[in-house]
Amino acid sequence: MEYIRLWGGQALAGEVAISGAKNSALPILAATLLCKGECLLHNCPRLTDINWAIALLQHLGCRVCREGHDIWVDSKGLCRCDLPETLMKKMRSSVFFLGPLLAKTGACDLCEPGGCCLGARPIDLHLGGLAQMGAEIRQEEDRLSCRGAKLHGAAIVLPFPSVGATENLMMAALGADSPTTIYNAAKEPEIVDLADFLQSGGAKIHGAGTKLLQIEPGLPNGAEYRIMPDRMEAATYLAAAAAAGGRIVLRDAHKKDMLPVCDVLESAGCQIQSDCDIIEFTAKPLRGCKLVRTAPYPGFPTDAQAVIMAALLRAEGLTVFEETVFASRFRHVPALRALGAQIETSGAIAVVSGVKTLSGTAMAATDLRGGAAMAVAALGAQGCSVITEIQHIQRGYEDFAQKLAGLGARIQHITEDKLWRRKKEGGSRLAEEAAVPLIAAKNGQ
Ligand code: UD1
Repeated sequence: MEYIRLWGGQALAGEVAISGAKNSALPILAATLLCKGECLLHNCPRLTDINWAIALLQHLGCRVCREGHDIWVDSKGLCRCDLPETLMKKMRSSVFFLGPLLAKTGACDLCEPGGCCLGARPIDLHLGGLAQMGAEIRQEEDRLSCRGAKLHGAAIVLPFPSVGATENLMMAALGADSPTTIYNAAKEPEIVDLADFLQSGGAKIHGAGTKLLQIEPGLPNGAEYRIMPDRMEAATYLAAAAAAGGRIVLRDAHKKDMLPVCDVLESAGCQIQSDCDIIEFTAKPLRGCKLVRTAPYPGFPTDAQAVIMAALLRAEGLTVFEETVFASRFRHVPALRALGAQIETSGAIAVVSGVKTLSGTAMAATDLRGGAAMAVAALGAQGCSVITEIQHIQRGYEDFAQKLAGLGARIQHITEDKLWRRKKEGGSRLAEEAAVPLIAAKNGQ
């Protein structure tokens, strides 16, 4: 069992480099299927979700080479249109392959994608938009068959600005025979990044980052492109410093993409300064922030809700969190309560009443951001905490423990390897190692 062990109560200090954005790299990797030539992507984070996206490309016949943070893709060998269930179920982003495959080959066989359990996550907006473009979609239980040898442009109105549906439809529209307009499109910076990548290969896309997106038909050529920085990773390290105290500097981070998160931390009392791609953060004694309401961009990002909640557990007064994007996004709350946090939940609302101290405990990560939130909270707690089920965290954070350690946190990532070596050397299991499953079970996780 791999896990993270950390000791809280110590201020953070130093500099951390923010990796490329997972939520940008994943659709862009899928988009390489559309390209007529080779693609070279820089600043791709080393994450398990990225490994699975590469496995999907290779399954489809693409050649993929990876060196450090660079990924080179040649999709000329694309020779099939089925997405295997084992890979589809690994992550929600596997659905990004649907639009490009339909555009390029006219067909795609897939099943419902997996991903973090945040409540029901249908793909009806993706399928509805594709159907409007002329795709024939058949569903038998979990299996989907999509056929669209002749996609045509359409005027698609999204009832909700879904990030994934906007990206999928934007990619599919490049293979249509006439222009497509998407109304009420999502405006997230990652959508602009995907559009910028496609445009650097010659695609014609207008209005990315606004709610009116217009796509002219025409597949792009290959392109060389640098993935934008990960604003959720950046938000997580700011939250960690807010929880633990101290002063940190984020390198390769864009404050302009994360203004609502910075606003909340500033209204909690922290100081934030930014210049180009540097963010300087100084933690201060925290106060509650009244209301943090998640919403599509440019609102407060749902992906930052858990880590900011974790940062504010010891803030003086109340903070009310309202989750409006996903139906079930408070799964980290029982673990935070186990640390001593006072949180009342009712439906989409969670009310945090700041406490004076938190005490380390054992927790099991429930999902990607929820797992990161547990680490953030534990950094602000006294004593040792252990976080198991860290495969959730590894889906979205590159070198999570190492980066926090670089900021001065007392944190260890215990791998199977390290445990095996210790056993081989005749060492006995550490007390907290043996206690982890017991404590986690006691916490009802
Ligand atoms: C993306 C992000 C995820 C983030 C989310 C919201 C990636 C890889 N993931 O996820 O980290 O939390 O945006 O910012 O970029 N919905 C439907 N039908 C659909 C599509 C979505 O009902 O066809 C609903 C979802 O269930 C959810 C809401 O719309 O309640 C938002 O989903 P969406 O914006 O599509 O998020 P994802 O693209 O899945």
